[in-house]
Amino acid sequence: MEALEVEGLKKTYVSKNKRVEAVRGISFYVNKGEVFSILGPNGAGKTTTIKAILRLVIPEEGKVHVNRIDISKHISEALKNLSAVLEGNRNIHWKMTVYENLRYFGYIRGLGGRFLKRRVEEVLEFVELTDKRNELAGKLSRGMQQRLAIAIALLPDTPIILLDEPTLGLDVESSIKVREMLIRLAKKGKTILLSTHDMHLVEKVADRVLIINNGKVIVCDKKENLINAFKKKAYKIVFEGEDHYVDLKKYGKLYEENGEKILEVQLENMEELYKIMDYFKEKQIEIKHLESIMINFEEIFVNFVRSGRQ
Ligand SMILES: Nc1ncnc2c1ncn2[C@@H]1O[C@H](COP(=O)(O)OP(=O)(O)OP(=O)(O)O)[C@@H](O)[C@H]1O
Ligand SMILES: [Mg+2]
Repeated sequence: MEALEVEGLKKTYVSKNKRVEAVRGISFYVNKGEVFSILGPNGAGKTTTIKAILRLVIPEEGKVHVNRIDISKHISEALKNLSAVLEGNRNIHWKMTVYENLRYFGYIRGLGGRFLKRRVEEVLEFVELTDKRNELAGKLSRGMQQRLAIAIALLPDTPIILLDEPTLGLDVESSIKVREMLIRLAKKGKTILLSTHDMHLVEKVADRVLIINNGKVIVCDKKENLINAFKKKAYKIVFEGEDHYVDLKKYGKLYEENGEKILEVQLENMEELYKIMDYFKEKQIEIKHLESIMINFEEIFVNFVRSGRQ
């Protein structure tokens, strides 16, 4: 069942002398218990989409349903299902301690009493900040601040969590911590929608991926399908022969590794591979080895954005 349904979302920012069509008709759904990732270059409309779901910006067109509730009609009921982490470190109070932040934002979310007390301990444990509870938030590392922001979002224990670039600006170690946290949340059955540039994060946690550019959907599919779509078409050719070495550059990436000459090609169809094979034959270049290779998600993303299918 869908936890989140977004249909025909449009948002244009209008200022005195400028109109920016940030989101130009985006539709997608997120299944219950799924990790759904929105990918897109800078300015693609990721943050606007997330803000529009939360009604922090009001889209001029489109519908958002949260657990089947139309958010434009029943906002408070719909928002009970959602919590969000937007620009993590800016949304915490730097002059309050970790513990005070959690209490404060808990109150704002309408929590209190024993429930809040228990949740604060639970989320502190979950984000591994229990021993930092009395530190000022402003004194924490960027990674810890992000974990505090996540902890705040977890307080109300909502079924759906939205995160805008949760690993932005974090070092490798902190990113891994956040990544592991998201995996643990998914295992608990939470529905997670995140936007990111972090391909490792997508590779490790996403079930389905939405790639957007210029406010429009380029593709939306299971991560495996996106990877497979390109996997079939990427080949590594190990060969011998000096003379025509440089010539091969026009077909793909050419390099040497452990004394071997390698040509890596990405193909639209098999015909292209045969053409390359013909070239090898014609020039009598000996092929030692040919294999289908896995390209990483970053390349897949770049390919989709370049090919610009909208
Ligand atoms: N408040 C605003 N007023 C005017 N234009 C805006 C506003 N917020 C965003 N935009 C513009 O809308 C477009 C989409 O921005 P958005 O922040 O949604 O993209 P994004 O995919 O989150 O980008 P990034 O990767 O840089 O975070 C951009 O062209 C941006 O400049
Ligand atoms: Mg953004």
